[in-house]
Amino acid sequence: MSAFPIQTVHTLAELRQRVALWRARGERVGFVPTMGALHDGHLSLVEEARRRARRVMVSVFVNPTQFAAGEDFDRYPRTLAADVERLARVDADLCYAPAAEEIYPPGFSTAVTVGGPAVADLEDHFRPTHFSGVALVVAKLLNQADCDVAVFGEKDYQQLLVIRRLARDLDLRAEIVGAPTLREADGLAMSSRNIYLSKEERAVAPALHRALTEAARLIAEGEPIGHVMAGAREEIAAKGFVIDYLEARHAETLARVAFRHDGPIRLLVAAKLGATRLIDNVAVEAPR
Ligand code: PAF
Repeated sequence: MSAFPIQTVHTLAELRQRVALWRARGERVGFVPTMGALHDGHLSLVEEARRRARRVMVSVFVNPTQFAAGEDFDRYPRTLAADVERLARVDADLCYAPAAEEIYPPGFSTAVTVGGPAVADLEDHFRPTHFSGVALVVAKLLNQADCDVAVFGEKDYQQLLVIRRLARDLDLRAEIVGAPTLREADGLAMSSRNIYLSKEERAVAPALHRALTEAARLIAEGEPIGHVMAGAREEIAAKGFVIDYLEARHAETLARVAFRHDGPIRLLVAAKLGATRLIDNVAVEAPR
């Protein structure tokens, strides 16, 4: 653990100054965009960035444009002081915590329209404006950060594909890297939203990952996809989840798959447990 607190900057001018200094020294710059409330999953993204770059910065910004009315923007946990402490433990070099006006100054009038993996009848069906907000802020942040590599979690799998597409389509300089989902000991995917779960819900929540991994195993063994997914849906619903989607999709295009040779396959789920919406995904092992 670093003995020193890491520096936090709040303005684009300060960020650019720091990054320009690193670049002038020929140092490779890594970047992890986050919305804060950092947990070990985020820290593993920082470590991944650290393996790929000499300098690592992390942004903490709860992006209003990716939340729809009625979602949890207002109650999303904001824990900057604790976040900065956690970042010091993994030797991040800089925290960028811009105010909303730094990202969306008065008069801001630009939107990003996303297609391809952003229109897959998964998250986009339930959160129709979400990915345009994500794409807008990620395009801005990557541009502001002027980084060589940016790391995103596979936990938000559709988001990762949307960001890869965005970076390619807009010729963003950064290499986009996906990092594996970090899990609690019982399999629950780490998420800043897990704190919304009651004690009883927290005990039930790992059933989501158990059902996914079992379905992935059966599909890899050659069981029919439709049958396996129907069984997984039934099992999760029986535990009290209200399912938004639980689907087998092509891992790169998110197209629907009927047979395991249509893959590589990813199983993706979003389901509500009480008032908390959980998402998760796992890969299906390729047929030999
Ligand atoms: O995954 C997240 O935390 C956010 O969607 C991101 C990529 C930081 C954009 O606000």
